[in-house]
Amino acid sequence: MAAEPQPQLSEAQIAVHWREEDYYRPSAKFVAQANAGDPAIIERFGEEHFPECFREYADLLTWDTYWHTTLESSRPPFWKWFVGGRLNGCYNCVDRHLATSRNKAAFICVPEPEEQDTRAITYQELYRRVNEFAALLRGFGGVDTGDRVTFHLPMVPELPVSMLACARLGAIHSEVFGGFSGTACGDRIADSGSRVLVTMDGYYRGGTLVDHKAKADEAVAAARKLGQEVDKVLVWRRHPGQYASKSPMVEGRDFFVDEILADYGGHSIEPVSMPAEAPLFLMYTSGTTGRPKGCQHSTGGYLAYVAGTSKYYQDIHPEDTYWCAADIGWITGHSYIVYGPLLLGTTSVLYEGVPTYPDAGRCWRIAERLGVNIFHTAPTTIRMLRKVGPHEPSRYDYHLKHMTTVGEPIEPEVWRWYHDEVGKGEAAVVDTWWMTETGGFLGSTLPALQPMKPGSCGPGVLGIYPVIYDEDGNVVEGGSGKAGNICIRNPWPGVLQTVWGQPDRFVDIYYRRYCKDPDSTDWRDWPFLCGDGAVQAADGYFRILGRIDDVINVAGHRLGTKELESATLTVEEVAEAAAVPVMDELRGRAVEMYVALNPGLASSPEIEQKVAAAIEREIGKIARPRNVWIVPDMPKTRSGKIMRRVIAGISNFADVGDVTTLANPEIVDDIRHHVQSAK
Ligand code: WT7
Repeated sequence: MAAEPQPQLSEAQIAVHWREEDYYRPSAKFVAQANAGDPAIIERFGEEHFPECFREYADLLTWDTYWHTTLESSRPPFWKWFVGGRLNGCYNCVDRHLATSRNKAAFICVPEPEEQDTRAITYQELYRRVNEFAALLRGFGGVDTGDRVTFHLPMVPELPVSMLACARLGAIHSEVFGGFSGTACGDRIADSGSRVLVTMDGYYRGGTLVDHKAKADEAVAAARKLGQEVDKVLVWRRHPGQYASKSPMVEGRDFFVDEILADYGGHSIEPVSMPAEAPLFLMYTSGTTGRPKGCQHSTGGYLAYVAGTSKYYQDIHPEDTYWCAADIGWITGHSYIVYGPLLLGTTSVLYEGVPTYPDAGRCWRIAERLGVNIFHTAPTTIRMLRKVGPHEPSRYDYHLKHMTTVGEPIEPEVWRWYHDEVGKGEAAVVDTWWMTETGGFLGSTLPALQPMKPGSCGPGVLGIYPVIYDEDGNVVEGGSGKAGNICIRNPWPGVLQTVWGQPDRFVDIYYRRYCKDPDSTDWRDWPFLCGDGAVQAADGYFRILGRIDDVINVAGHRLGTKELESATLTVEEVAEAAAVPVMDELRGRAVEMYVALNPGLASSPEIEQKVAAAIEREIGKIARPRNVWIVPDMPKTRSGKIMRRVIAGISNFADVGDVTTLANPEIVDDIRHHVQSAK
């Protein structure tokens, strides 16, 4: 196997440590209506019922052909779920609801800048739009079953329409978060081998119209450099007939979707019946090494898993108005804005813009206006809303029965504000811990059955049996107060199938670390390495401490230190670069870049600017460092390895640990003086 550097517990060392808190319980009213109200469900998913317990999730789907084998595990860790089954993802999300819910809103779209332009898309209208776009993709785009199609789309209804159109054709979609740069998009186009890019002319964010199509030109050029040609760029226009971008349309390559769609009006496409194991989509994420990994998610297993977790953990009923205020460009949006809610036939709110513009009341006004009763967001948003409008929620007449937090650890005091002010003390709160690779939740509480504990996500969710190992592979017992690497002992339907095009790397990253026997065909020998440090309390609840690999979680988004460093190294003056996380009041973590220049060059604000600009160009605005520190040299080991731990200690005004073994220990004080006096 290729030698993937194995991660160490590191970010956990600078994690905030907080007190264990009291339990909170949901209201009797919530419990009475909950989907998972009978404790027998916990028994049904007990380990002795694995893997058959997951039938219950798969039975939430409509199958063209029922499966014969729940879990096929003869070639670990390439698990196969619901083998022999066939289904179509789009049919399950859209068509099957038409008989009862044709005129019900599938999505309610809240645009910027005018909230009064809020518009519902019924299941019938969604069906129509998806069919027409699927016909266009096949007829005009030449997209066939199994082809990859890259999207670079913002939070507009055209994004779920495009996803479902691919699912209808059995084509594999790969959405790149709209805020990523054209270059980052191009890398993902090339890795997935997409010939078609679907994009948009422009979108609104915080009161400004963003010219988005320009990024498509950079993306196509970046993909070409990597040997991948894009034949067609399909450009949705925000207002059909008007072009909101300054980027010229390239003859024979770029096409306005609204113009071509005219040829496909009223077309229907038969949903392609796909094997349960066929990939549904790719979602790229960062890891230890430079190149982003295309996490491949399946059709049957993934959809079953998101349907089941949406039903029991999000407590979604068809009559709810559910709002997950994440971006569909991340896994949260795929699983819990689009697929999960639509599979359950509910109404999902999709909003454009940011939570704090035009004012701190935006979210609560939307909740009031639409009668939202389930709300889902990230700690970073909660912290921000608390800061800008701590009493704002009480000014609006809305009532939430349920709220979710996801993406990073939430501090108990922030949790309490969420519970008391946003939830008005009425809503059950679930803290859901999981990641891009896992398709859906791994750790959380069943809202009616397991009490909430601020700061802890809860125990493993139904059918997930976590374990914490120390560096030597010994089990760290709950209640021991010790941190370790959290793993999942069993396969589950939502887990990624592989890393697109890199099966060896997939095995290496997620399974090598604690594999008990590489020749074993017993799933019990193949624990899944989640990539987080964690502590388990005596009550079985997990507290997640953060990533153990070289990943910085900024506002709930994973940024690879290697990607940040290679972007920085594109600046010609830069000789060496190190990215480290620093604590950030609002975003959890922020990035600081440390840079050493080529010999003879003096530091200057211009070079700092160039570094920030390079990161924005190569990755996107979200990765912009909080500070760029130009230092005379990096602290290094005798073998020349940059000691990020030491740098992170300096940046966080924390203990840097033992530096006597460094090749250049004197540099530590130099850097400390330079950085800490400037902060
Ligand atoms: C990383 C995964 C999960 C979808 C959004 C992020 C951190 C995620 C929690 C939580 C503490 C959390 C972990 C994880 N994380 N949820 N509830 N409590 N930490 O997906 O970009 O793949 O990031 O986010 O460190 O590994 P992602």
